[in-house]
Amino acid sequence: MDKMMGDLFYRDWGVGTPVLLVHGFAEDGAVWDEVAKRLSATCRVLIPDLPGSGRSVLSGGGQPEPMGSGQASQPEGVVSMESLAAVLKELLDKEAIGRCVLIGHSMGGYITLAFAESYPERVMAFGFFHSTAYADSEEKKAGRLKSIAFIREHGAAPYIRQSTPNLFAARTREQRPALVENMIRRYSSFSAASLIAYLQAMLQRPGRLSVLEQFPRPILFIIGEKDQIVPPEQSLKQAHMPRIALVQLLPDAGHMGMLEDAVAGSNMIQQFVNFITLP
Ligand code: MLT
Repeated sequence: MDKMMGDLFYRDWGVGTPVLLVHGFAEDGAVWDEVAKRLSATCRVLIPDLPGSGRSVLSGGGQPEPMGSGQASQPEGVVSMESLAAVLKELLDKEAIGRCVLIGHSMGGYITLAFAESYPERVMAFGFFHSTAYADSEEKKAGRLKSIAFIREHGAAPYIRQSTPNLFAARTREQRPALVENMIRRYSSFSAASLIAYLQAMLQRPGRLSVLEQFPRPILFIIGEKDQIVPPEQSLKQAHMPRIALVQLLPDAGHMGMLEDAVAGSNMIQQFVNFITLP
């Protein structure tokens, strides 16, 4: 069922253990479609479009502006991983969901960590879908500043066209070009203001390795072996930190395993839910 909470659009599918699927940067909840369809056979799946993505408006001046204009009213400082986590908490409150499983894709994982830090009592368990608890390296920060300058100069669409192919494994690009092209087409009209706000928020986020170390319940790592954004070596380096970790590899996936191998990706989440709900 499609739902709204103020300016926030989300979908609520199925019945069972609540699972919140948090999408990443320059995406919306639709990236989870295939996974959510499968999971909702046994779970209650909540799939928000984060504020500023898809059908959800970014409060504080981030209304979608005409495509290609990088000069939109820029809600600087409005977005942080913590503020986005607070929106997710409001969503759980609205739905009267006490505790849920959170699965975060990349930036969605950064938000999930902020959520687990602020509201641990609301988290049954959580998982990273190609994400990391490390803060940005200096090189990564420099890259984000370059991206911001590029978007300001050229707008969102050329940025999406340029950056999207790198999200996929080389084999996906060669064998399933339509998957890449569909993603470019779908997100070319993304708000430049939102992209810039997210980039700034990611750049400023702190590392949260201590959340990984101290979280008392299981943490899932789904790793794309061909991921160039969160390389497998980095994922594996942090996978030994939690008290209880489940580590799963998607051998043919880059950074978009939920599209590149939706069946295996959803099975991994399903197994994780089964594991944490064992009597
Ligand atoms: C994402 O997919 O959410 C972003 O690529 C994350 C990042 O740039 O760190």
